[in-house]
Amino acid sequence: SMCGVMILGSVNVDTFIYVDEFPAPGETILAMGGDMGLGGKGANQAVAASLLGTPVEFIGQVGHDGFADYIRGQFDAYGIDGQTLATSDSYPTGAAYITVNSAGENTICVVSGANTGIEPQDVQARVRQRFEANHENGTIALAQGETDIRLTETFAHECSSRGARFVLNLAPFVALSQATLHLANPLIVNEGEARQLLESVIGEYETLTGVESAQTAAQILAARVSPSVIITLGADGAVAAEGDSSWHQPAPVPEKIEDTTGAGDAFVGAVVSVLARGDSLREAVRWGVAAGSIAVERRGTTSSYPTLAQLELSLLSHTPVGAP
Ligand code: RIB
Ligand code: NA
Repeated sequence: SMCGVMILGSVNVDTFIYVDEFPAPGETILAMGGDMGLGGKGANQAVAASLLGTPVEFIGQVGHDGFADYIRGQFDAYGIDGQTLATSDSYPTGAAYITVNSAGENTICVVSGANTGIEPQDVQARVRQRFEANHENGTIALAQGETDIRLTETFAHECSSRGARFVLNLAPFVALSQATLHLANPLIVNEGEARQLLESVIGEYETLTGVESAQTAAQILAARVSPSVIITLGADGAVAAEGDSSWHQPAPVPEKIEDTTGAGDAFVGAVVSVLARGDSLREAVRWGVAAGSIAVERRGTTSSYPTLAQLELSLLSHTPVGAP
């Protein structure tokens, strides 16, 4: 059965600067190139899921400017209704300034702008509207750490109480309540965020380096924080824990690493897309890892995400099998 994904999240215009090496403080350098694209963790994940054929509804806000027109156009091109984005009169459209070095690593500064101007009652109204219009379908509800904590908590509880499956990508790490974390099924974090979670929620220091310790960390978090947990490991793929089982999903070796920006968002978008069609978490992680590997091979975020056909082809040719 196929259901839709409702996403609460940030939407930005990303400005990319491609350099050989990051500039040092006080240094002026000439970049090798630049680019612009649709970004924001929420929007990236929405695009990644929509490209895989999943119906996506997005709750977010832009400003009253040219960037907003660009974003609405991009949303429509990706099959997400851009008219449902709210418009702020007081804040500009969110913007991210991303510098990528020759190793494909990045530094990102986000000017949140209109993303910060949403109110919890707006989120509540949108969720209620969605569930009144759509009784028969289940829904996946997805949020990230770039959104105001109050909104994420409202969204998680409103959606969960109506039977939706809440998925949380805690990127960046923010201090959500234990009650909200407990709804996340799965909770998706990278290694750094997993460390922050272990420290803040469990209060114990975990050495988290390498696949084995990450798998242990996923087990601990799945026993004590959220019903299921995925920790993404970049080139090492991902580990996950759900109930009594935990596993490692290795990643196919990318042909080249061009730009890792937003690869985590490609992962999350693919995961919710697979869960929305009713498949297992194991299958979702397998697809997520494959989507992330494709995304690092090309520049940009959304512009580097695979279509369903591309992803299926890559899964067929690599078929990395997770250890049981
Ligand atoms: O995860 C990558 C995203 O983080 C970028 O698109 C940028 O907008 C920031 O939100
Ligand atoms: Na990319």
